[in-house]
Amino acid sequence: MAEPKANERMEKIVSLCKRRGFVFQSSEIYGGINGFWDYGPLGAELKRNVKDYWWRSMTQKREDVVGLEATIIMHPKIWQASGHTSTFSDPMVDCLLTKKRFRADQIDPQSGDIHSYTGAHDTVAGKSSSETYSVLIPTGKHPEYARKVARQFYAARGVPAPELLGETIETVKETVRYNPDNGSLLTEPRPFNLMFKTFVGPVESEDNVAYLRPETAQAIFAQFKNVLDVARQKLPFGICQIGKAFRNEINPRNFTFRSREFEQMELEFFIKPDDAAAKSSLTGGPGTEPNWGWEQWHKYWVEQRVQWYESIGLSRDVLDFHWQKKEELAHYAKATVDILYKFPFGTQELEGIAARGNYDLTQHQTFSGKSMEYFDEETKTRFVPHVIEPSAGVDRLVLALICNAYTEEEITDEKGVKETRVVMKLHPRVAPVKVGIFPLLKNKPELVKKAQEVRDLLRAEMPVFYDDAGAIGRRYRRQDEAGTPFGVTIDFDTLGEKPELKDTVTLRDRDTMQQSRIAIGDLLPFLLSKIR
Ligand code: GLY
Repeated sequence: MAEPKANERMEKIVSLCKRRGFVFQSSEIYGGINGFWDYGPLGAELKRNVKDYWWRSMTQKREDVVGLEATIIMHPKIWQASGHTSTFSDPMVDCLLTKKRFRADQIDPQSGDIHSYTGAHDTVAGKSSSETYSVLIPTGKHPEYARKVARQFYAARGVPAPELLGETIETVKETVRYNPDNGSLLTEPRPFNLMFKTFVGPVESEDNVAYLRPETAQAIFAQFKNVLDVARQKLPFGICQIGKAFRNEINPRNFTFRSREFEQMELEFFIKPDDAAAKSSLTGGPGTEPNWGWEQWHKYWVEQRVQWYESIGLSRDVLDFHWQKKEELAHYAKATVDILYKFPFGTQELEGIAARGNYDLTQHQTFSGKSMEYFDEETKTRFVPHVIEPSAGVDRLVLALICNAYTEEEITDEKGVKETRVVMKLHPRVAPVKVGIFPLLKNKPELVKKAQEVRDLLRAEMPVFYDDAGAIGRRYRRQDEAGTPFGVTIDFDTLGEKPELKDTVTLRDRDTMQQSRIAIGDLLPFLLSKIR
């Protein structure tokens, strides 16, 4: 079947997310709130599975990474030390006519004719404005459009029936100074700090300002010494954290991709500076070398993370990689690789893997006056550790998994009728519900009793969905849309109609739609082997 066009595909995905309860608009009954999203019953399970699997992979299955769970609001000096108070900003521009705000670096270049005015006066009311203003229109478009926009601009400035002054026209190529929606001139770009501000305690004064954290990373740096004292770890070792972060994005967009409230999964992996590492004979973990410098560790983590994405169904061919150029690097980074996913709306970042040097710990040492040094028994040297940071966005990963899973297939039913099957091909590890349980008929107590026994057997170990409503084909289709990888049907053979099939069930595979017969006693080990 032909692939739907990118936007059409995205519209279908957004619609399925609402219809099936993956994602809802936050506060929808009040018209929603831009940049905030809620997860419905299926989405909440999917997101939880992603986070739990990351946590298991990053810390529980490794010797050299421990976990942390820190507060969202921290001492404001943390953000001075990290540089976020002074540099965590996007350039923003406002439309001079509508006041709509844009990120300056997200405006597509436009060409056309700029109509400029030196001001306007109103001969009737005697009011005038000497503010200069201009409007961009496509070359060849009637100049009256530019004049109409300019009159609206001056009218808003108190000249009720403006007569425009000093019109000049200049043809330009590729300018980003005009509102792409209406042609109005924009303000000059100004930095806009992305941190949400609040006040701690009852007094709303500058002394009580605090911020909702814009990244989980800083708590890890701030607690580095405490963790080092208790975790019985030697370098190299990591501290990881999953948690909410907040950024007051100028233009939240692309569904949940760029949200103002989101979750991060971050690891800070502390390593020795290259000169100390070169002398080392100790090792960090499986498959690593004792004397690796930061570049090898950086590459190691990129490969680890790509393998992790593969293990939840995002193969290398749907991913892309971007090695940031010097001018793109964040203020703290020596090198950053972005792992990107090919979304229907464009190829965009899922995770950044940054080599942050010892920037953060050094900054906290300076701002707090507390030593962040590590004493290396082996080389008998003292230094501030360096760090490699794999930092992933949970919500954008969930969106990537949803986009990747969404499949439309044309199938022919048993009566020869063609229909479109919508199926969410989520990896069983992350699928919200692992197995659907269906008694063939709901009005046969023996079938229902057996189906409930199977449900109770499996429910202790995994999320199941029991469905006895409607034709079996319709029940399969509902679970296909929910991404449930397996379906179990309890029929008369299960009850022993064919004695050789007693206590077996039909197991349906969501992706191939193949059905096989399996003993009830083998179900649990089979399913566990697929979902863990
Ligand atoms: N800690 C890196 C980031 O939040 O992007």
